[in-house]
Amino acid sequence: MNLLLFGPPGAGKGTQSAFLIERHGMKHLSTGDLLRKAIKNDTPLGREAKKLMDQGKLVPDEVVIGMVQEEIAPLKGKPFVLDGFPRTVVQAEALNKLLAKLNVTLGKALFLEVPYNLLSDRLTGRRVCKSCGATYHIKSHAPKKAGVCDNCGGEVIQRDDDKEEVIKQRLAAYEQSTMPLKEFYRQSGQLCVIDGTGEVEAVYGRINQVIKR
Ligand code: AP5
Repeated sequence: MNLLLFGPPGAGKGTQSAFLIERHGMKHLSTGDLLRKAIKNDTPLGREAKKLMDQGKLVPDEVVIGMVQEEIAPLKGKPFVLDGFPRTVVQAEALNKLLAKLNVTLGKALFLEVPYNLLSDRLTGRRVCKSCGATYHIKSHAPKKAGVCDNCGGEVIQRDDDKEEVIKQRLAAYEQSTMPLKEFYRQSGQLCVIDGTGEVEAVYGRINQVIKR
């Protein structure tokens, strides 16, 4: 089944995507990862995106849709998970068109529900590997050696947008632009609300139930 994961910043989209890739062999498309790659490669798109991401703002729909357009066709043929895209109703409508062209259907839109009081701690404590993108948390899932990735030995850092003042803006952008997606997918019959609290394995178990149904 093809899935999309959406929810507030820090809800666990990346963490659960990693399980779906590893355990279900799913392909993965994350617009956050694509944008960070463009920033790393210092492309014109990356430079523009960085200014917005550092302020906790969304990148314009037309830019994100253009970027996804190039990446979506290779997803065909295997189940996939979309992580962080779509994030506005305009993007969701564009996605429907792109998938229709490919004759591919989206099974479920999984909304990871996590109360706001847990999100700030998850985000300020998050650390990521600069090389392979593995995700850690300073309290619940720290790398064995501080600052060094368990998987690849790369440098483990804090994301620029995981600072307290930027997190506030990201949550505001989420409320304004991404929350309406819940109603969009409720109306299409694809919405499935997943409790995103508790151990990561417990959250994965809930997602797995949906896949098995
Ligand atoms: P993006 O990278 O997509 O960020 P996000 O949506 O804000 O989501 P995060 O990556 O912060 O959180 P997550 O839900 O993946 O949580 P994670 O699993 O890491 O986007 C970044 C920026 O790019 C956006 O702000 C925007 O500017 C731009 N952008 C991207 N896509 C766009 C689009 N489509 N349109 C426009 N702009 C776009 O978990 C977080 C932490 O919590 C980790 O430390 C993890 O270990 C921990 N954790 C996870 N699950 C649990 C659990 N169950 N219990 C305890 N801790 C947990």
